[in-house]
Amino acid sequence: MSTGTESTAAAAGLRGVVAAQSAIGDVNGEQGILIYQGYNIHDLAEHSTFEEVIFLLWNGRLPKSDELAAFNSEIRANYEVPADVMTMMKQFPKDADPMDVLRTAVSSLDFYDKDGHLTDREHATKAAIKLTGQIGTIAAAWDRIRNGKDVVSPDNSLSIAQNFLYMLRGERADADEEHIFDVCLILHADHELNASTFTTRVVSGTLAGMYGSVTAGIAALAGPLHGGANTNVMKMLIEIGDPGKIDSWLDKALEEKRKIMGIGHAVYKTEDPRATWLRKYSRHMGEKKGEMKWFEMSQRIEQLMNEKKGMFPNVDFYSASTYYLMGIPLDLFTPIFAVSRISGWTGHILEQYANNKLIRPRAEYIGARDLKYTPLADR
Ligand code: COA
Repeated sequence: MSTGTESTAAAAGLRGVVAAQSAIGDVNGEQGILIYQGYNIHDLAEHSTFEEVIFLLWNGRLPKSDELAAFNSEIRANYEVPADVMTMMKQFPKDADPMDVLRTAVSSLDFYDKDGHLTDREHATKAAIKLTGQIGTIAAAWDRIRNGKDVVSPDNSLSIAQNFLYMLRGERADADEEHIFDVCLILHADHELNASTFTTRVVSGTLAGMYGSVTAGIAALAGPLHGGANTNVMKMLIEIGDPGKIDSWLDKALEEKRKIMGIGHAVYKTEDPRATWLRKYSRHMGEKKGEMKWFEMSQRIEQLMNEKKGMFPNVDFYSASTYYLMGIPLDLFTPIFAVSRISGWTGHILEQYANNKLIRPRAEYIGARDLKYTPLADR
């Protein structure tokens, strides 16, 4: 940058920089309030379903019952993934990371939607519906493929939450787990301009299609500082292994300046409201499975991090033990995040298309100038 822009030095990581206007979701980091299209996350977690929340995020209002029924049918009619994509996935190395598989398979869905590059509201919404229906099928199928099991076909009489658990396990979850999983999907659906959502807005801002924009979002979500944190929380708990070892383990980790996964947040300076729900579910699942250790360990880490660093758990902290106790493999935690966050990504992409401006910021140039070029032979 040479002239006309302010120094970015004070905004490392663009903290506090407002980079878009959006009506989709808002995070009040000081008070720990999250809203989707005006509705408090606590009300949605208490009363809503994931499908209703998707409708809300895309349309800016809650659906009437006939609208919700039609919306559910549309999504369920798109659970099935093209057979070619499944065939391709069967060729992947069995040890491929599920997020890499998800990114690659979702990207390939573009080939099977001839209108997938169109950015008008009608076609982009159709692509969003297809993607929202298909992403869970891919994530669940990969777990079966890599374990040498037959893929379970989606059941379009089931909700997104129940269908995912059904395709993963080959049997339906009980109503309690279906409900908890559904609320988990609600809690992860949108979070304003987080890294992956910002990515989808940058990509869709070039008028690239829905599939490419979502693929980029998956790539961003995979990082351990973003969606990848939930898997790492569980790895940490397993690494510590014993509640009695927490205090010394944490002291050592902090001494070594390790980041404690699932703790801290770029925006929240108080309790993340999503963690309030997930703490409750982690405890509930522990009681249900007769395995309180993971909840108790998490609680102790939370307490110590609060005392020592004044920090709070984020969405990933208690979701880790909740999913673990549901028997979900560790490396599927982040794909599940994507199964939910696709609703926010696609909502933001639709919003970006509706009022598009190419996103093209400036960099503060800190390199050299006016160097004299030395021919290769003389260096
Ligand atoms: N454990 C230990 N210390 C932490 C920490 C954590 N999880 N998160 C932040 N800190 C410390 C940093 O070491 C730094 O300390 P310093 O000032 O002494 O160097 C200070 O807090 C600020 O950290 P910074 O990384 O600049 O804060 P941020 O606002 O940019 O980071 C996160 C936000 C989420 C990236 C960060 O808290 C983190 O890495 N958390 C763990 C990963 C995670 O759970 N991610 C999911 C987010 S939903």
